[in-house]
Order: sequence, then structure tokens, then C-alpha cells
Amino acid sequence: MAASGEPCRPGRGEAAAVVVVGSCMTDLVSLAHRLPKTGETIHGHKFFIGFGGKGANQCVQAARLGAKTSLVCKVGKDSFGNNYIENLKQNDISTEFAYQTKDAATGTASIIVNNEVKTLFNPAPAIADLDPQFYTLSDVFCCNESEAEILTGLTVGSPADAGKAALMLMGRGCQVVIVTLGAGGCVMLSQTEPTPKHIPTETVKAVDTTGAGDSFVGALAFYLAYYPHLSLEEMLKRSNFIAAVSVQAAGTQSSYPYRKDLPIHLF
Ligand SMILES: Nc1ncnc2c1ncn2[C@@H]1O[C@H](COP(=O)(O)OP(=O)(O)OP(=O)(O)O)[C@@H](O)[C@H]1O
Ligand SMILES: *[C@@H]1O[C@H](CO)[C@@H](O)[C@H](O)[C@H]1NC(C)=O
Repeated sequence: MAASGEPCRPGRGEAAAVVVVGSCMTDLVSLAHRLPKTGETIHGHKFFIGFGGKGANQCVQAARLGAKTSLVCKVGKDSFGNNYIENLKQNDISTEFAYQTKDAATGTASIIVNNEVKTLFNPAPAIADLDPQFYTLSDVFCCNESEAEILTGLTVGSPADAGKAALMLMGRGCQVVIVTLGAGGCVMLSQTEPTPKHIPTETVKAVDTTGAGDSFVGALAFYLAYYPHLSLEEMLKRSNFIAAVSVQAAGTQSSYPYRKDLPIHLF
């Protein structure tokens, strides 16, 4: 993280169990019956502003499950940035390392890896020539089908394909690889269980799957931090369940469930 900018809350609280380094984005959503052609103006019938960004989404989901969280991010020193900081506070996320800058948002972020903590890496958006250190330094490497395709060059359309991609990613030095498969749940592979295992999820009526991946990653971060003795398979079953709840409501963060609204057996 660049050293410029002012921390929004300099006071140091209780240490966070889940620290997310990632983006905060303000989603400006216009609903229209079709897309405009180049240069055309059309009527929209609804407009709303939402809080998004993969880093913030994951952090919000972990916080709503009860994790003590902190987001390392940078937003602009403008109304969207101010609102975003407020949104983080409302979700009980520490803004100690949420910076605001007068410069244009650059999207630059660097990952700080401390060997004493578990690192969950989500390569989004994926690039084919990802720095090899991301594989060796991540404890858990979690990607979706298209990211797995970009990273491996394989076609990933089934749990069997995801298993092959996971084996290839594992060969690059990951300890644990998870490939999410939308309504198909996910596939896991680890150094200790080196045969790919498919963890299906229940069939639900999906309303809006936007942000399901971040709900899943946020939930997984919560379980890794608070229930480290659960088996990986059990953590993934529960993360599948939480992400499946999120696809049954509209929006991204607005669809993320709170602990109080979830079945007790998840905790
Ligand atoms: N239709 C669905 N029904 C049930 N669970 C779902 C559905 N879609 C997604 N999920 C859950 O969310 C997880 C992540 O979904 P997915 O693989 O689509 O991630 P993603 O592509 O990163 O999501 P997005 O980019 O839409 O946020 C899945 O592993 C699954 O647990
Ligand atoms: C996987 O995540 C990327 C973001 O990195 C997203 O653009 C893509 O649509 C997702 N793929 C699937 C299959 O949902």
C-alpha cells in the first residue's frame, strides 16, 4: 500500500482476525430496457448506487458473519469515497487502513504477506502470467472457472475440468486450491488431500448471482479465522451455503446475509 494519504481512523482497536487487501468501488447502476448504441441517449427506468469492489465485498461478508475485520484500501477524497468509508463503518469494518486520496483513484494495491497469518488469495481479475510468488505465498488460492482457465490455459466447464486445473495450480506451489463453479458449488484440492474433491451446493432459485464469489471468499475467510479446526471440506460446505443465500436476493453487498439471519449450525 502506498504511504500517501491519511488514515480515516488513526486509533488502534482490537486486532482484526480477517484483513482484506482489495478494492472499494461505487457501483452506478442504471436499469434500461436495452443498451444504448454509441452516442445514443435512452431512457432508463431505475437508477441506484451500490457499494462494490471485490475486496470490500469479501470484507463485508466476513464482517456480517461476525468476524473482526479490517480493509486495506484507498478511495478518493470525494463524496463517493466519504460514503464508502461510512459504509465500512456501518458494517463494523475497521477503517484504520482505509485511506483517502485527492489524486484520481489508481487501483494500485500491493499485497503485504506476513508469515504468521493465513493468506487467502483470490486472483481477480486474473492474468495469465501471474507472479509465481502468488502461488507459493498463498495458503489458500481460490478462483472461479474463468480465472482458472486464464491461469492454466485449460477449459473449465465441469467439476472434472476444475480438478485438472486445480492440480496444475497446485503444481505451481499452492497449499490449497479451490475452484468455484457457480451453481455447481466448488472443487477443492490440498497438499494433504491431493485428489480433487467436488463439493456440490444445494439448488436454489437464483435471483442475482453478482458478487456470489466474493460472498463465498468472505465466508471462507471468516471460517479460516474463527473456526480453524473445521475441515476444509466443512468450511467449503458452509461457504457454499452462505453464497447460495446471497444469490437469492438482488444486489451485491445488499444480498449478503448477517449471522443472525443464518441457521445456527453454520456457527
Ligand atoms: N446459482 C447458484 N446457486 C447456488 N449457489 C451459487 C450459485 N451461484 C453461485 N453460487 C455459490 O457462489 C460460489 C461462487 O460462485 P461463482 O463460481 O459463480 O463465483 P464468481 O464467478 O466469482 O461470482 P461472481 O463473479 O458472480 O461474483 C459458488 O461456489 C457457490 O457456492
Ligand atoms: C470470475 O471472476 C471474474 C472476475 O475476476 C469475472 O469477470 C468472471 O465473470 C467470473 N467468471 C464466472 C464464470 O462467473
